[in-house]
Amino acid sequence: MPDTVDLAAAARKLFAGTWDFRHAANTLEALPPPDGVEIALAGRSNVGKSSLINALTNRNALARTSHTPGRTQELIFFSANAPLTLVDMPGYGYAAVSDKKVKAWTRLIHDFLRGRVNLARVFVLIDARHGLKTTDDAVLKTLDQAAVVYQIVLTKADEVKPTELERRIAETQEKISRRPAAFPHLIATSSRDGTGIDELRATIAQILAERGGLAA
Ligand code: GTP
Ligand code: MG
Repeated sequence: MPDTVDLAAAARKLFAGTWDFRHAANTLEALPPPDGVEIALAGRSNVGKSSLINALTNRNALARTSHTPGRTQELIFFSANAPLTLVDMPGYGYAAVSDKKVKAWTRLIHDFLRGRVNLARVFVLIDARHGLKTTDDAVLKTLDQAAVVYQIVLTKADEVKPTELERRIAETQEKISRRPAAFPHLIATSSRDGTGIDELRATIAQILAERGGLAA
């Protein structure tokens, strides 16, 4: 990455633009052609994926959110002007919809994560109150086997006390330390109070810079 790129400034610029919905796909055939750099947000239903997209992009309702698990039912692509696309994903685990639907989109999640050529990183979101659960194992395994780099992002940090958050960070870091494709550093966020949002934006700007997608 060129030293001349000021990541904080680049991140501000990247997310100051107007982010828009570009595409929705509920099958592999319906995916847009791979173009530019994609970063996907994966995680259990209701963990806060869509809310985090809204926080990152400074928009209240760009991605649809709900307190009912199972809100996002397709892969949803968002972008601004830069060659970066953020992909909101359906959740895995429990969802308040039919088993058939959950099965279909779980297959889609795994196929997309292992096969998307321009996927630069996957943020795997984990609720800061609960930590990693066995329901997260399948997706981590898919990413490890496909050698797609993923980074854990704790969500809803506003719901836990600072000491509990520190404990959850340490415990999660330890759990992923031997996973081959896991990025070692994790980021604690809250879409509600803004914790970690600038750090996540800077991380995204860095990924884009590493891929040559950020002008100095
Ligand atoms: P699915 O699309 O159903 O998989 O859910 P999702 O992961 O996209 O979660 P979503 O963003 O829809 O948020 C789920 C619920 O969590 C909503 O009620 C949000 O208001 C709440 N939520 C999201 N982020 C935060 C956060 O940072 N703090 C708190 N306290 N609540 C949050
Ligand atoms: Mg969602």
